[in-house]
Amino acid sequence: MAGDSRERLAVWLEGDGVEIGALHHPLAVPPGAHVTYVDWLDEKGLREHYPELASETFAPVSVIASAEDLRAFADASLDFVIANHLLEHIEDPIRALSEFWRVLKPAGILYMALPDRRVTFDQGRQPTTIEHLFEERRNGPEANRRAHYLDWATNVDGKQGDEAEAHADRLLAKRYRIHYHVWTPDSFLDFFVALRREFGLDFQLVGYAAPQRSTDNEFILVLARPGAGVRLAPSPTLPPNVRRRLAQSPLGPPVRLAKRLLRQGRN
Ligand SMILES: C[S@@+](CC[C@H](N)C(=O)[O-])C[C@H]1O[C@@H](n2cnc3c(N)ncnc32)[C@H](O)[C@@H]1O
Repeated sequence: MAGDSRERLAVWLEGDGVEIGALHHPLAVPPGAHVTYVDWLDEKGLREHYPELASETFAPVSVIASAEDLRAFADASLDFVIANHLLEHIEDPIRALSEFWRVLKPAGILYMALPDRRVTFDQGRQPTTIEHLFEERRNGPEANRRAHYLDWATNVDGKQGDEAEAHADRLLAKRYRIHYHVWTPDSFLDFFVALRREFGLDFQLVGYAAPQRSTDNEFILVLARPGAGVRLAPSPTLPPNVRRRLAQSPLGPPVRLAKRLLRQGRN
């Protein structure tokens, strides 16, 4: 995790948005942000899938949807999408990124934390190439699926030979959400540039944090859909504790409405 950076960059979040795959670690957002939680399973399903998190509290999922198919949300309907430690679990990341692009309003924010391959259990794996991601977008993820599970069984779980094959089959049968793909900050930036060029996902990079401490295992990107003019960071005018109390008071809803109308005027 990179706690300080997560909080510092969350200042970009305001209005109505979603967090996809929050699980037991929802992002703390500023008082002006209202979050709907989305996941591919309901809480019962998530608890079965992640038995190791039995003692954790999960974010309340209210929309069951895959990140690659967000048809529950209309085009240009959201002020932000949060996707922390999600993209590496997606078989076709370009499809998911295209969905994030579609549902964001102009000037809307995509906030993504991603594990840095160099400092996680993915160390022993080869970085995902751009060509591989493009191929999965073109031909679908099925052809590579088994190979991803075998790579995980061998290079993350340390199995060899027949044991690796059997382990890969078990994970595949459960469709366990392994890290299908792995990045470093640099390889992700290469991917980001290629996405802009080849898929027209013309996100602008407005915030970034690299791992800063030996305990950090992630890098964070804050991307904006282009809107009118340069997307500037919202500037908090009140200290966070006062803003939080204001947001929770009866004044909170009218203040949020006024901010939303102002934002619509800006976009
Ligand atoms: C490693 S957890 C991330 C938890 C938390 N966001 C964090 O930063 O630590 C991955 C989350 O993504 C969800 N997920 C995996 N594949 C998904 C998909 N295709 N669509 C939506 N959510 C997915 C998982 O159910 C889980 O909630």
